[in-house]
Amino acid sequence: MTEHLIVEREAGLMTLRLNRLDKKNALTRAMYSQLAEALLAADAEPGVRAVLLSGGAECFTSGNDVADFLQAPPTSLDSPVFHFMRALFELKKPIVAAVAGSAVGIGTTLLLHCDLVYVSRCAKLKMPFVSLGLCPEFGSSLILPRLLGHAKAAELLLLGESFSGAQATEWGIANAVLDDGAATLAKAREMALRFSQLAPSAVEVSKRLMQAPGREELRQVILEEGELFGQRLRTPEATEALSAFMQRRKPDFSKFV
Ligand code: COA
Repeated sequence: MTEHLIVEREAGLMTLRLNRLDKKNALTRAMYSQLAEALLAADAEPGVRAVLLSGGAECFTSGNDVADFLQAPPTSLDSPVFHFMRALFELKKPIVAAVAGSAVGIGTTLLLHCDLVYVSRCAKLKMPFVSLGLCPEFGSSLILPRLLGHAKAAELLLLGESFSGAQATEWGIANAVLDDGAATLAKAREMALRFSQLAPSAVEVSKRLMQAPGREELRQVILEEGELFGQRLRTPEATEALSAFMQRRKPDFSKFV
């Protein structure tokens, strides 16, 4: 069976590569569990100084697997997707993301919890939660209006407008935009390897200090969004939108009041 998450350890770096390109690296329940397990292991293993997350040189991730959303939606905050969110939110060690191609839904919101983010010029980021009858998740309803102002955040979160690697960099979501996927992976790896040369507990303490302001508020918002997102997955609006994606048609919201 194909491994949908490749985990490698080398020179103080734990590399996590999403490997489900035929589905644009859509994240299944099993992949969330594997990601959560790997992140917990990264914190537990003294030899790991940083984590590098990528989806390879072509695509980051198309977000949650839509078939999973329909057939096995998360039923509680104990579901695999929330294990993953918690593991990333609580990760003590630095994590660097390399984003090439599409980064949809949680593919974009998870970047708000990474320490360094490198994007390719062709990257296309998008949070189509409302278009899918859903609502923002993983703290995005708090973080993005603060980072971008309400008006810009509304374009991204309410209208689900896509944005480029260059825009992500201009807006402070990413550190730098690179010419292509290979250059993005190389830059992210180079920066992640720098942590191997630094004093590990100084890095850890500093990351914690940077995260501390507003942390409890953010934790509460993530829980609240998670509850609402789970409820919304069971609404007729979301069922219509998710079924429409699977059937390659436009959703019809005209019957909803
Ligand atoms: N869940 C399940 N399957 C997905 C998927 C997802 N999130 N994203 C893509 N796929 C599947 C497609 O159904 C298609 O499968 P098929 O070859 O068996 O028909 C395959 O991956 C390739 O996707 P396709 O849409 O043909 O590729 P594209 O290059 O035209 O578009 C995306 C790429 C990522 C822009 C587009 O697939 C997309 O918008 N995906 C859905 C994203 C989404 O809504 N995610 C949930 C966010 S909450």
